[in-house]
Amino acid sequence: MVVENMGLDHVAIKVRDLEASIEFYRDVLNMAVSDRIGEAVAFLRTPAVAEQSQHHELNLTQMSDEELAALADRDELELDLHEFERDLPEDGPPMLPTTGPIYHIAFEVPDFEAIGNAAEKLNARDHPIYRGPGRHGPGNNIFLYFPDPDGNPIELTAEMEKAPEAGGKPAKRWPRTPETWNVWLNTENIGDSGSE
Ligand SMILES: [Fe+2]
Repeated sequence: MVVENMGLDHVAIKVRDLEASIEFYRDVLNMAVSDRIGEAVAFLRTPAVAEQSQHHELNLTQMSDEELAALADRDELELDLHEFERDLPEDGPPMLPTTGPIYHIAFEVPDFEAIGNAAEKLNARDHPIYRGPGRHGPGNNIFLYFPDPDGNPIELTAEMEKAPEAGGKPAKRWPRTPETWNVWLNTENIGDSGSE
């Protein structure tokens, strides 16, 4: 190994429209701009919910004209996020539509109530919700998934199980089933299961 100890610090993504992305992360997720570099880059920090809040957890970089032209050539410049939402498979994984190799970016919120409130407010804004609220088997964390303006799925999560080093469960291999991905699917059969 080259280091003996580390933590995940920040994520950097390229975006189609930097101003639109800043607006989303600021107005929807209450992040703040820490610094900017010209017109091309913005550094954003999370609210102080997570103890590790710092100068930035997210770096947004404007795509170049060449990258935008390539998306335009493939007719992928404009995204209908509601169309992705409508095309989601009815039950279980594979579940999140993505526009690039990033599968999702997860932010920690204090509790389940915060996730429920977020779902309500996203509905009020007519913002697509891809999945959730639900609870993952591995990690035992509650989740809610919805897209940013580029279609990168955002996950809000709470109650993540602690690492074994901190008293959590030892590692195991889970079956590849919808119920592993969302343990609440087990009880959804009682009512209409098509809504989430
Ligand atoms: Fe996740």
